[in-house]
Amino acid sequence: SWTTGNVIEEQVEAIRAQVGDKRAICGLSGGVDSAVAAALVQKAIGSQLTCVYVDHGLMRKGETEQVEKDFVASTGVNLKVVDAEERFLKALAGVSDPEEKRKIIGREFIRVFEQAQAEIIADEGPAVEFLVQGTLYPDVVESGGGTGTANIKSHHNVGGLPEDLEFQLIEPLRKLFKDEVRMVGQELGLPEEIVQRQPFPGPGLGIRIVGEVTKERLDLLREADAIAREELTAAGLDRDIWQCPVVLLADVRSVGVQGDGRTYGHPIVLRPVSSEDAMTADWSRLPYDVLAKISTRITNEVRDVNRVVLDVTSKPPGTIEWE
Ligand code: XMP
Repeated sequence: SWTTGNVIEEQVEAIRAQVGDKRAICGLSGGVDSAVAAALVQKAIGSQLTCVYVDHGLMRKGETEQVEKDFVASTGVNLKVVDAEERFLKALAGVSDPEEKRKIIGREFIRVFEQAQAEIIADEGPAVEFLVQGTLYPDVVESGGGTGTANIKSHHNVGGLPEDLEFQLIEPLRKLFKDEVRMVGQELGLPEEIVQRQPFPGPGLGIRIVGEVTKERLDLLREADAIAREELTAAGLDRDIWQCPVVLLADVRSVGVQGDGRTYGHPIVLRPVSSEDAMTADWSRLPYDVLAKISTRITNEVRDVNRVVLDVTSKPPGTIEWE
């Protein structure tokens, strides 16, 4: 029968048998999947695992700190943090096309990650043979691994691995859905804020800015996103929604009036959705007073934003993310 205890026990045994006395590397994205995958592998092989966290500067407010402090404290994992914000911003300069952004972010991510890997191997010798991936069942299916369906968006955590990969993959979550992953994470003792965190795409806020990605725009979006998350949590809605992307329409301006003056600012889109597995989704019917609070706070507190709009599209036809 399916219990989180059984899943953990089975995976721990399988991972130990697979890895033996070799070593493994795991990329942490700040999301639930990689955190739970890492915690499982850590439970199986302890200090034979090293985690790498690439801070690409496209994270939400507070996320890097959460990985560096809370995740490490609860698992005792070896963590190497790489600050690559400048490198990513430079590579993204002038780029507005969504697929182009995804490719650049995926490519830079692999480069930075490979460099970190090389450093770890230089430190620890040739025994580093395994790479941990937080691939879930829906990722496998959406990338064509399960059913032969076409890859809808280039998910860099599944399809984007380099071809000359010398690592063997450990994918302990490959048969699980998101809610099961959360249960496993909880059982493993991970902090609530990490286990209950909304899904967040690998390319981060880079694909939540419609238009070019700049540091200034990222900072605006980070503020707006933090306000939305804060109010959704305060209203007790975290468990009712699957995720709520907050999107900055950086290429759009509209006229507004704030204080005594006319403004010409950008809209922020709220995209709250309900879903079981992200393959389909419905827009969430959030209470109007919560939406009103988020709208008032964002327009008051975030510079250059003078309008907040709500996305009422299901998936299909809309994807959850805007890019
Ligand atoms: P879409 O926009 O395709 O998103 O409806 C489905 C789910 O996948 C997440 N997503 C990603 N996750 N890397 C990821 O790890 C990615 O490149 C990526 N793109 C989208 C999205 O947040 C939603 O939960």
